[in-house]
Amino acid sequence: TGGTVVSATGRGAADVLVDGERIVALLEPGSTVLGANLAETVDTVIDASGKYVIPGGIDAHTHMSMPFGGTTAADDFETGTRAAAWGGTTMIIDFAVQKFGERVPESLQTWHDMAAGQCAVDYSFHQIIGEVNKESLAELRRLPDEGITSYKLFMAYPGVFYSDDAQILRAMQTGADTGLLTMMHAENGPAIDVLVEQLLAQGKTDPYYHGVARAWQLEEEATHRAIMLADLTGAPLYVVHVSAKQAVAQLAAARDRGRNVFGETCPQYLYLSLEDNLGAPGFEGAKWVCSTPLRSREEEHQNQVWQALRTNDLQMVSTDHCPFCMKGQKDMGIGDFSKIPNGIGSVEHRMDLMYQGVVDGRITLERWVEITSTTPARMFGLYGRKGVLAPGADADIVVYDPNGHTSIGLGKTHHMNMDHSAWEGYEIDGHVDVVLSRGKVVVADGEYRGRKGDGKFVRRDQCQYLI
Ligand code: URP
Ligand code: ZN
Ligand code: ZN
Repeated sequence: TGGTVVSATGRGAADVLVDGERIVALLEPGSTVLGANLAETVDTVIDASGKYVIPGGIDAHTHMSMPFGGTTAADDFETGTRAAAWGGTTMIIDFAVQKFGERVPESLQTWHDMAAGQCAVDYSFHQIIGEVNKESLAELRRLPDEGITSYKLFMAYPGVFYSDDAQILRAMQTGADTGLLTMMHAENGPAIDVLVEQLLAQGKTDPYYHGVARAWQLEEEATHRAIMLADLTGAPLYVVHVSAKQAVAQLAAARDRGRNVFGETCPQYLYLSLEDNLGAPGFEGAKWVCSTPLRSREEEHQNQVWQALRTNDLQMVSTDHCPFCMKGQKDMGIGDFSKIPNGIGSVEHRMDLMYQGVVDGRITLERWVEITSTTPARMFGLYGRKGVLAPGADADIVVYDPNGHTSIGLGKTHHMNMDHSAWEGYEIDGHVDVVLSRGKVVVADGEYRGRKGDGKFVRRDQCQYLI
């Protein structure tokens, strides 16, 4: 009661009535229900005076327990989704990984087994196709039966998940035919590998050179190639973790031609840079080794990516949460940047970091809700149940305090299973106050009140964002 309800399209004073797991009504402040005051009718009143009431965040790109770079991502579904809840994210979409030589349904089952009974908030999966062949293409066709409506390919990481153009073309044909959304990691992996080899041979082994090897030209080129193959096949395309302004321009051009081409960016590409972070002294820069890499401050990528978020050339923000500790994980790459496991952990901070964009005048309050919740819901077939505060929707609700404050990453103030933070020292002029997951208060008064297993697998419909 008493808060300002914010949606992707507007804001206004309203009380939100919840019954069980669902929202049943949005009421004019002071309304009576069944002839009585709200406070007399309901079991629990949460006072949201002076605060924003928003649909819970949806982080559509996380990697809990992902085996990668010779190790496994440090957050599992329990710790990762709990950290998400702390940060006002009430649903994640993770990636089931089909490894080389493995069958797709087997890999999906592995991820179901890892997540079931462990999660603090609701979850779903995208399916990574690690090996495109006759069998996996047939298996792709059956994903909608499993409630999975998006799959991901990699133009990077030869020898791990990589697909060549022939495989991409075939997968996109099948994806288009099946009504799946094709997600793409768009970087030219074989070219990157040549640059990596050459840099290492020159003794350039520091974390900084990870960003040099993964040049923006190789993101732009792969993004363009993915768009053209999507164009040819009619497959709707969603490019993950866009960082280079030139890649943004490719997406914008395709959208100007009326294509179903979408892109996400991540907080790290909006705030952090090659020079200031990846180029930190000694081995510190390893904290910021992720792919696509942080881009150069000088080339003005950040401003362009913020701009694209305003103009809808980029539609949403996910974290690509893929945490590795410095000790025992990132440190495998001392003396060889290519052996540093790729990834940054931010699942807890996305709502706060993007809210700071509102405070800083980068985006509007409504756009904040849109890019963190409403569009992810529409993009991945969840809208109606998720991404909106409306009768019938799941009561995934965040009470956000614009007068609160959040100091990120200092000491043990975060809840992710990491021995450091890429966001050390970030100050946010706002605070996640209360979080409800399907009607249950899971975070309040600076306390976690949920338990593992609260979060359930959610079956998804087709993309609801197509033009
Ligand atoms: O650095 C990253 N992004 N690690 C996770 C794997 C991926 O490419 O998304
Ligand atoms: Zn990726
Ligand atoms: Zn990723």
